[in-house]
Amino acid sequence: MDLELAGDSALVTASSSGLGKASATALAREGADVVINGRDQERLEAAKDEISDVAAGTVVTQQGDLTEKDDIEALVDTAESEFGGLDHLVTSAGGPPSGAFLETTDEDWYHAFDLLVMSVVRLVREAQPALREGDGGTITNITSRSVKEALDSLVLSNSVRMSVIGLEKTLSRELAPEIRVNAVLPGSHETSRIENLVEAAVERGEFDSYEDGMEARGESVPVGRIGDPMELGDTVAYLCSDRAGYINGQAIVIDGGSGNANL
Ligand SMILES: NC(=O)c1ccc[n+]([C@@H]2O[C@H](COP(=O)([O-])OP(=O)(O)OC[C@H]3O[C@@H](n4cnc5c(N)ncnc54)[C@H](OP(=O)(O)O)[C@@H]3O)[C@@H](O)[C@H]2O)c1
Repeated sequence: MDLELAGDSALVTASSSGLGKASATALAREGADVVINGRDQERLEAAKDEISDVAAGTVVTQQGDLTEKDDIEALVDTAESEFGGLDHLVTSAGGPPSGAFLETTDEDWYHAFDLLVMSVVRLVREAQPALREGDGGTITNITSRSVKEALDSLVLSNSVRMSVIGLEKTLSRELAPEIRVNAVLPGSHETSRIENLVEAAVERGEFDSYEDGMEARGESVPVGRIGDPMELGDTVAYLCSDRAGYINGQAIVIDGGSGNANL
C-alpha cells in the first residue's frame, strides 16, 4: 500500500532510538522529509545515518531536551525552515524511571510531567499553526499501554501518561477537521527502554538474570514475543497518511494482545 507521504514533512521527537526512531524510519521510507531529535548529538547522527540508508526523503537532526521550552520551539522552527512547513508531528519521549510509589520524590513527579505531558502541550502549541496549513496535518502521540492497564513498578507512567490521553482526545475535537490527532499505546517492544526496565527488575530480584527477564516478557504476550519497533513505526506512518483519514481521537494499543481490557 502506498501511503502517499512522499513530499510531506514530519517532526518526530525522541527519535535517536527506539520507537521514535522506528516511526521516523517508517515515515522517511515512505518518502517524507523528517526532523529527528534527541539530547545526545552523537546518537542523533548515528540514527540519521541509519535512517538515511532507507529514506526516500531528507533526514535532518535537531538536538534538544524535550523538558526545555526553548528547545521545543527550536525543533518546530527547524522543521519549518528546512522543509517550508510541517505536515506531521509525532511525539515520543524518554520513559520515566520505574519503581514503586514510596520510592518517588516530588522532583520525580514534576520531571515526569514535564517530560511526558508538557513536552506534548508545548509541541502542539508551537506546531499547530503549520500543521493546519495545506491539506491538513496529523499529530500522533506515542504513550504506553499503561494508560489502559496499570503496570507493576511503573507508578509514574501509569499516572502521568493519562493526561496525554485526555489531551489527545480533546485536541482531536478542537483541532479537527484541519488536524487529526491519535495516540499509539505500545506494549513491550525491543528497545533500550525495555532493556533498562528488565535490568531494573533483575536488580529488584524479580528475575535471576537479564535473559530470564526478557524471556518472561516475551512469554507473557499472546503472540509469543515482544514487538519489533518497526511494527509500531509502520502503524504511526499509516496514521499520518490519508489512508487513515477517518481515524481521529483514537488510542490504539500495539501490544501483541497483552492487555486484558475488552476495549
Ligand atoms: N519500548 C517499549 O516497549 C515501550 C513500551 C511502552 C511505552 N514506551 C514508551 O515509549 C517512549 C519511547 O520509548 P523507547 O522504547 O523508544 O525508548 P528508547 O529506545 O530508550 O529511546 C528514547 C529516546 O528518547 C530520547 N530522549 C530521552 N529523553 C529525552 C529528552 N528529555 N529530550 C529529548 N529526547 C529524549 C533518547 O535520546 P537521548 O537519550 O539522546 O536524549 C532516545 O532517542 C518512552 O516514553 C517509553 O516509556 C516504550
